[in-house]
Amino acid sequence: MFDERTTCMVVVGAQWGDEGKGKLVDVLAERADFVVRYQGGANAGHTVVIGDTQFVLRQIPSGILHRSVTCVIGNGVVLEPENLFAELDQLHQRGIDTTGRLFVSDRAHLVLPYHKLLDAASERSQKLGTTGRGIGPAYEDKYGRRGIRVTDLRRVECAQSLLTERVDRANRLLAMMGSSERARYEDHVELLQRLAPRLLPLAADTGLMVHRAIRAGRRVLLEGAQGALLDVDHGTYPYVTSSNTTAGGAAVGAGIGPTAINGVLGVVKAYTTRVGNGPLPTEAASPFEERLRELGGEFGAVTGRPRRCGWFDATVVRYAARVNGLTGLAVTKLDVLDSFAEIPVGLAYRLDGESCEEIPAEVEALGRVHPIYESLPGWQQPTGAARRLADLPSAARAYLDRLEALSGVPVRYVSVGTRRDQIIEV
Ligand code: IMP
Repeated sequence: MFDERTTCMVVVGAQWGDEGKGKLVDVLAERADFVVRYQGGANAGHTVVIGDTQFVLRQIPSGILHRSVTCVIGNGVVLEPENLFAELDQLHQRGIDTTGRLFVSDRAHLVLPYHKLLDAASERSQKLGTTGRGIGPAYEDKYGRRGIRVTDLRRVECAQSLLTERVDRANRLLAMMGSSERARYEDHVELLQRLAPRLLPLAADTGLMVHRAIRAGRRVLLEGAQGALLDVDHGTYPYVTSSNTTAGGAAVGAGIGPTAINGVLGVVKAYTTRVGNGPLPTEAASPFEERLRELGGEFGAVTGRPRRCGWFDATVVRYAARVNGLTGLAVTKLDVLDSFAEIPVGLAYRLDGESCEEIPAEVEALGRVHPIYESLPGWQQPTGAARRLADLPSAARAYLDRLEALSGVPVRYVSVGTRRDQIIEV
């Protein structure tokens, strides 16, 4: 995807997250100079396999595994510092040197333990199925203009006085929500005193850094977390995350201008999954849902929750193509469908007896739609060894052609397995 005219590219999820963006970023990072996370926080999870050990990167871009790549956690991310250092330690234990290659925006907001207490307390009544990482409350504080940012740690007294007020406020809210949990001011001070000496050397004006890199013709990948249907503006509100996961959020969250971006790759699974609550129109009936879950290993990387599974929903992907301005599609996990004789694809919906080709704003209406399916023939042979489109069975190629036609976006990559080399570049 990188070429002379495409040097700054966004990779976004075009369904409900967990599309396999991490693998695409990993593959594309081989050709990138910078990889930048621009929103979300430790709610994201990318499973990384190094040798025979496996662990999950939540905040550090997976580009870190490539020695020549500089990784940035942008201003749009809500950063959980303790988790960041746990990730860094895991990388160092496996011999991955990150010195001078990882930077954190000094404008990024911190997720602190009281945010997690608030997340748990509000889940008891709201029941959104959040990841429990304090993401919503941290963004609430950011937009309520009472967040604590990385740069605040540069002045210890300032950070401590902010903490007094914030911890008090969190405890008042917890009491109002009927929670018996309380945040302790001393624990928060201790946490920041312990983490600041490690965090501050990584802190930088990363927007400036990325801007300079782009001006110098370096290749920059902006890595989205979650997916379009979890975007706080465009997703299935209120069953969404608290940030703009779509490509528009990339400029804001990386600290660059939108005109710097010249490509948007949307990642979709060859089917659909969702973790957490909210509508999933093409959710498969038993036993197909269980079969997709088992074959696809569909369990949340952060929470271990079983993912809800269903068929490819073209209405969702067309919508994601529009709100993201997708210029290319990466279809992942095609191999998971290898054994199916017939594969349904959702073309559009029926809503109250009328045809419906767009995602309605009301979540309740999306919960009531009936998908209109087309059934495509399966290929019933393994695809994991394919490295070119021509290696795929003709029914698998026809399936991809159909997804491309229905989405209106050209397929650029097809992933046929978890390994790095199991990818077809179209
Ligand atoms: P939060 O981001 O933890 O507030 O969770 C809000 C919603 O987004 C819940 O439905 C989560 O399951 C979902 N979510 C958050 N992060 C991810 C992700 O990385 N993959 C899939 N779903 C996610």
